[in-house]
Amino acid sequence: MADLLKLGVLISGNGSNLQSIIDNIEKGFLKAIIKIVISNNPNAYGITRATKHGIPVVILKNGDFKNKEDFDSELIKILKNNSVDLVILAGFMRILTSPFLKAFSQKIMNIHPALLPSFPGIHGQKQALEYGVKISGCTVHFVDEGVDTGPIIIQSAVQVFDDDTEETLSARILKEEHRIYPQAIQFYAEGKMEIKGRKIRIKN
Ligand code: GAR
Repeated sequence: MADLLKLGVLISGNGSNLQSIIDNIEKGFLKAIIKIVISNNPNAYGITRATKHGIPVVILKNGDFKNKEDFDSELIKILKNNSVDLVILAGFMRILTSPFLKAFSQKIMNIHPALLPSFPGIHGQKQALEYGVKISGCTVHFVDEGVDTGPIIIQSAVQVFDDDTEETLSARILKEEHRIYPQAIQFYAEGKMEIKGRKIRIKN
């Protein structure tokens, strides 16, 4: 157990990426342990997923804090108390403050449902459809001070079809998200990432 990577997973909603991380841990592909799941939404289905697998959950409601800094300082406290090595944003719909980013510098990963740097922010799939791209996909990246601007770890592309809706495209992208997020975390766990500026090389 000693050498398992300790994860803190932050969610706001359905938690299907959380589920794929749990599944990949349980099948032995991902050498990690989820120490804590934190949700800023008390109704997030991801809470049920975590509980089903015996993972501790903390709910932090946005409205219970005076400001973003207070919210984030509580987040830092919980994650540090759980000795978290790597913070995983899995559909966590909040922008993190600078003190949080400093507390976990190069130790926060996010998954975004578009091929960055295209379509950052919210509704990446809708933005892609409206733009009329023929290919979209998803990106796992480290989090920096910008919105979805951090160094890219893995991307996966999917085709966009003429009759796609936001739902059909999102479902196609989500399937790839569930594949590449655990893979990116495992690369980190294995110490395979060579980070130079904003370029990340995966060592063999
Ligand atoms: C995923 O598609 C994720 O890429 C996206 O939210 C969804 C969460 O799904 N994240 C963002 O848009 C972040 N900007 P999940 O709760 O089922 O994992």
